[in-house]
Amino acid sequence: MTLQARRLEGKVALVTGAAQGIGRAIATRLAAEGASVAIADIDREAAARTASEISRAGTAVAVALDVTQLSSAVDAVSYVEREVGPLAILVNNAGWDKVQPFAESDPETWDKVIAVNYRGVIHCCKAAVPGMRQRAAGKIVSISSDAGRVGSSGEAVYAGCKAAVIALSKTLARELARDNINVNVVCPGPTETALLRNAMAGREKLVDAMRRSIPMRRLGQPEDIGGAVAFFASSDADYITGQVLSVSGGLTMVG
Ligand SMILES: NC(=O)c1ccc[n+]([C@@H]2O[C@H](COP(=O)([O-])OP(=O)(O)OC[C@H]3O[C@@H](n4cnc5c(N)ncnc54)[C@H](O)[C@@H]3O)[C@@H](O)[C@H]2O)c1
Repeated sequence: MTLQARRLEGKVALVTGAAQGIGRAIATRLAAEGASVAIADIDREAAARTASEISRAGTAVAVALDVTQLSSAVDAVSYVEREVGPLAILVNNAGWDKVQPFAESDPETWDKVIAVNYRGVIHCCKAAVPGMRQRAAGKIVSISSDAGRVGSSGEAVYAGCKAAVIALSKTLARELARDNINVNVVCPGPTETALLRNAMAGREKLVDAMRRSIPMRRLGQPEDIGGAVAFFASSDADYITGQVLSVSGGLTMVG
């Protein structure tokens, strides 16, 4: 990838769920644009591997984080601010799902889906916002999903959480605008990662149908998402807040 600009030079970013998949690609892109990136993940070893890969070309540190625990989010932000510098960019990316018909799903699964996909975003915002307000500077980008905009069969509670992330972000965007904190949302369409592979295991026909329904006739790659996040994290988006951008090869075009 040839980059025209290093828009994030000197900025400190924390990306949740950055050990693999879309989070890793986002972290790689932010580092390529000059940010020092905290690879925050529940999988400590994978986070350390990813941080060391990114460190070959940029600056990255691994941070243990379980987004389902507010105390863990507070500890991760404190660690990054102590060891790396004031947090300028928070990317809420960690996610989890179990695809099944709603009628067959159980409360234990709902609790985990809500804890990771919705409460996790609340926790990380709660941990990051006080410092950003003090400094009157911050960019928060949350990774929702097209499921949260248009629904998705087999993902009822997950889609509900992703819609909640959009409403939370729009509200925070309103509340924090005068603190110079921008809050925006990126919604990937189906993207080739472990999450999608596990969800679609044994359903190759469905994957094929999905591919055919995408105007660009291909699934997303993790690298497709990083550019949109880097844009929202940069000063190019200083006058943009509370917005939702679908990165899905044209799959959804709802107004
Ligand atoms: N892959 C897709 O098709 C797709 C589509 C739309 C939206 N998304 C969203 O993109 C984001 C990334 O998804 P992905 O496909 O890269 O998934 P993935 O499963 O490949 O990666 C998720 C990462 O989150 C981490 N994680 C899980 N629970 C965590 C926790 N409690 N605390 C901290 N980290 C945790 C995992 O260890 C992993 O590194 C998610 O929010 C997902 O909902 C994905």
